[in-house]
Amino acid sequence: TRVLVLNGPNLGRLGRRQPEIYGTTTHDELADLCVAWGAERGLEVEVRQTNHEGELLDWLNAAADERTPVVLNAAAWTHYSYALFDACGQLEAPLVEVHISEPKQRPEEFRHYSVVTPFAVEVVAGHGIEGYRMALDVLVSALGQ
Ligand code: DQA
Repeated sequence: TRVLVLNGPNLGRLGRRQPEIYGTTTHDELADLCVAWGAERGLEVEVRQTNHEGELLDWLNAAADERTPVVLNAAAWTHYSYALFDACGQLEAPLVEVHISEPKQRPEEFRHYSVVTPFAVEVVAGHGIEGYRMALDVLVSALGQ
């Protein structure tokens, strides 16, 4: 099964961005880990990152058309993008929401709401990079494999 792992804005700087919050693993390393974790589970994982909201919307629209399961860390867009809400609402295959940190435990009030959660089979947050492995496990069960 083909699976998309989609990462939103500022996640391209993983490893350098606020390592005290997001850790020291780079996005390239995360991508390699996700591909390996997927392979162990019989999933063909493709990892993408963008700082451009429209690009993420295009990927989600294609995932809707192709019924592709998605692991999504929409980063800051999670908290306010109604276009993202609408795009997630069109997905047909399971969607798992992932965050490296636990946004609900962070001091900024704006992080406490997610437009993705209503459409996610599960939210995995606060487990660092391992959260992506957990999200793939959730997808495996959701797909009934
Ligand atoms: C994040 C949490 C968001 O609040 C933040 O805007 C991010 C990353 C996380 O993975 O912990 O960019 O989604």
